[in-house]
Amino acid sequence: MLLPDKVFYRSVPELLNAGLTRSGTPVYLQLMGNNPSVVADNAAKAVELGALGIDLNFGCPSPTVNGKGAGAILLNEPEKVHQIVMAARQTVPSKTPFMAKVRLGYDNTDNIIEIAQGIEAAGADMITVHARTSADKYKAPARWEWLAKIRESINIPVIANGDITNIESFQQCQAISSCDHYMIGRASVRHPFLARQIQQSIQNKSIQPINWHEHQQLLLQFALLMKESKNDIGSASRVKKWLKILSKGSKATQQDADNLFEQIKPMKTLDQISQILTAA
Ligand SMILES: Cc1cc2nc3c(=O)[nH]c(=O)nc-3n(C[C@H](O)[C@H](O)[C@H](O)COP(=O)(O)O)c2cc1C
Repeated sequence: MLLPDKVFYRSVPELLNAGLTRSGTPVYLQLMGNNPSVVADNAAKAVELGALGIDLNFGCPSPTVNGKGAGAILLNEPEKVHQIVMAARQTVPSKTPFMAKVRLGYDNTDNIIEIAQGIEAAGADMITVHARTSADKYKAPARWEWLAKIRESINIPVIANGDITNIESFQQCQAISSCDHYMIGRASVRHPFLARQIQQSIQNKSIQPINWHEHQQLLLQFALLMKESKNDIGSASRVKKWLKILSKGSKATQQDADNLFEQIKPMKTLDQISQILTAA
């Protein structure tokens, strides 16, 4: 079944902006499914609608998704993963970057090398590996040693993912995996300047300390962008939610974040919150 256009635009509004975020970052569109021809048709449609790259998700641990035979449960079936990637690669133009994201397995690591080799053989340009099994969920420590084993078994680049939360964990992951690319998940929400700090550490520059004022500016930007969107119901609580997460990101900004949270907690509208953030 082909998804209607509106589903693509709702999930990836950047399609209406030549596939780019407002700041110009290319957005790759991720698909998930267990039927090779359905995934392939939707991948082709995503490219037609302007997606700059396609990613296939074989890492989702959601019981609902897995119950439908999609996501991480497919890691029990390396041949099926290979077929899905191959079918989709064939419909996506070769110049369009095409990748897959996996975990180490569903509840064991037995298949992961075969899966990675199958994804490469099917023509993917890159593979992202979240270094946990689905059974590990999000809590068990990421097993970065597997990233090195996978990297050595294939020739396409491996993007390392899992538990990169600060410069030290990035350096450890790099030392263990020797990957060329890294993906930060949850920590990028808690600690929005982590990627900048890591980049500065790679370039041997002095690391810019975490700065509450910058966080506040980001929150204001977030509030203003949501105000602009057509549907801003629930937006005020989303700003509060992000502020709560930010307060857990760094000891340096925790007190300021907590104080601001107490100030905006009773507010119901984005206008009220934006006023406080602007004045701060
Ligand atoms: C709330 C939530 C939603 C996620 N949604 C997706 C998703 O849609 N696609 C995907 O590939 N990974 C998704 N992930 C997984 C992350 O991309 C990442 O692989 C995982 O969090 C491990 O990296 P981290 O330890 O840096 O967070 C999600 C994770 C969380 C916590």
